[in-house]
Amino acid sequence: MTPSALLAAWDAQQAAYVADREGRFRIVVELLELACGPAPLVVDLACGPGSLSARVLDALPGARVLGVDHDPLLLDLAARALDPLHGDRLTLLDADLDDDGWPALVRDALGGETPDAVVSTTALHWLLPPRLVAVYAQAAELLRPGGLLLNGDHFRFDGRTPALKRLAAAHDEATQRRDHAAGAPTWEAWWEVARSQPHAAPLAAERDRRFDGRPAPPPTAVDFHLAALTQAGFAEAGTVWQLLDDYVVLGVR
Ligand SMILES: C[S@@+](CC[C@H](N)C(=O)[O-])C[C@H]1O[C@@H](n2cnc3c(N)ncnc32)[C@H](O)[C@@H]1O
Repeated sequence: MTPSALLAAWDAQQAAYVADREGRFRIVVELLELACGPAPLVVDLACGPGSLSARVLDALPGARVLGVDHDPLLLDLAARALDPLHGDRLTLLDADLDDDGWPALVRDALGGETPDAVVSTTALHWLLPPRLVAVYAQAAELLRPGGLLLNGDHFRFDGRTPALKRLAAAHDEATQRRDHAAGAPTWEAWWEVARSQPHAAPLAAERDRRFDGRPAPPPTAVDFHLAALTQAGFAEAGTVWQLLDDYVVLGVR
C-alpha cells in the first residue's frame, strides 16, 4: 500500500472513533488563523502520521509545523506520506511526552524560534493525569505570550452526568457501526496492515519496546482539563468546540 493510501486509511479508521473529526480539525485550524495569522509556527504534539499537521499546512500555506511523536512507525508514515507534499514546512521529531526532556528537544528542533501554538488531537489521553498537567505546563513555557494551546480529544462524562455518559457511549457505538459497515478499518485491522508493510517490522518492534507495559490512564472529564490548563499557567482556559464528550479546549498563554 502507498504511504498516502495508508494515511488515508488511518484517517478513515480514526473517523470511526471521532464522530466529527474533520469538524474538530476545522475549528483548530480556524482558531490558529484567527489568533496567530496566516503563517503560524505550530507544534503538533503526538502527531501520529500527521493528520492534524497536514490540515494546518494545507489550510495555511504560510504555516510551519513541528510534529512530535514517539512511535517510530507512525513517524515513518508521516515522513513518507507528507514530506513529498510539504517539504521543509513540516519537521518531524521523535520525543517521548512522558519524559521531561521533550521540551528541550522541541526547542532544539525549532532552532531558537518560539512557537505561536501547540496543538494536539486524539492523543493526550495516553498520558496519566499528573503527566498531562506537566505537559500542559511545559507547553505553556514553550509558547510566546498570547500563544495558544488547542487540545481536541474525548474528555469523558463521569458519574455526575449518567444520562450524558450513556448517550455519548451510544453515539460512539452508532458511529463505529456505521463507519465500519461502510468499510472503515478498525484500529486493530489498520495496525495489522501497517505492520505488514515491507519495511515495517523493525519499526513495529521498536514501537512495542517503547510502549508495551505503559499504564492505561483513567478517563478524565473536561473540567479536569480546564483546571489543569489554569494550573499549568495559561492566562485563559475554555472550551471552543464540543460534540457530546468530544471537545477542543483552548489555553491562552
Ligand atoms: C490516536 S493517535 C492520534 C494521532 C494524531 N494526532 C491524529 O489525530 O490522528 C495517538 C498518538 O499519540 C502518540 N503518543 C502516545 N503516547 C505518547 C508519548 N508518551 N509521547 C509521544 N507521543 C505519544 C502515539 O504514538 C500516537 O501517534
